[in-house]
Amino acid sequence: MTKTSMNIMRQGEERRITLTLNGCERSGHCETRELLSDFIRHELGATGTHVGCEHGVCGACTVHIDGVAARSCLMLAVQVDGRRVDTVEGLAPGQTLGDLQQAFQRHHALQCGFCTAGILMSCADYLQREPDPTEEQVREMLSGHICRCTGYTPIVAAVLDVAARRKQKNVSREAAHA
Ligand code: FES
Ligand code: FES
Repeated sequence: MTKTSMNIMRQGEERRITLTLNGCERSGHCETRELLSDFIRHELGATGTHVGCEHGVCGACTVHIDGVAARSCLMLAVQVDGRRVDTVEGLAPGQTLGDLQQAFQRHHALQCGFCTAGILMSCADYLQREPDPTEEQVREMLSGHICRCTGYTPIVAAVLDVAARRKQKNVSREAAHA
C-alpha cells in the first residue's frame, strides 16, 4: 500500500463512523484512539457492555463483531466502521429474554452481574459453533472470563441446559417435518 492510498489517521483526530448495532444503523463520533467499549457505552448509550480490566483479561466487555465474539476493550471504535456489532442488548429483542439469558436466570448463574454480559456474548458465539458441548469444553470456553461471584458452576449448568434444550427442540422440529 502506498502512502498516498493509506487511510492515515492522526492522534486526537475525530471521525464519524457508522455501524450496525444490534440490527440498527447507528452513527457517532469518536477519536481515532477511542476504545470500542467506550464508544459503545458513551457515544451510543449501549451500557449493557461492561468494562472491567480494559486490557483483554476479564472478558466483561465481550461483544460480537460480524457475528464473532471479541473483546471490545482491545479494539478501536474506528475499526468497526461499516461493520456489524452485537451487544448483550441484542440478545433480548423486544424485551423478551433470549433462551441463554433465561437459562442463566433458572440456574442463578449470576450474582452481581458485572461479568454476565460478556459471558453471555461468548456463550452465544460458542454455542453457534459448538451446539453440543461437553462440560469440559464449556469450562475451557469460560476460562477466558473472570467471575468473582458465582464459582462458575451455575454458569456451566446454564450453558449445558440451553444446549440440551436447543438440541431437543431441533429433534422435535425434525420429527414434525418427517
Ligand atoms: S474490560 Fe475488556 S477484557 Fe476486561
Ligand atoms: S456475577 Fe459477579 S462477577 Fe460474575
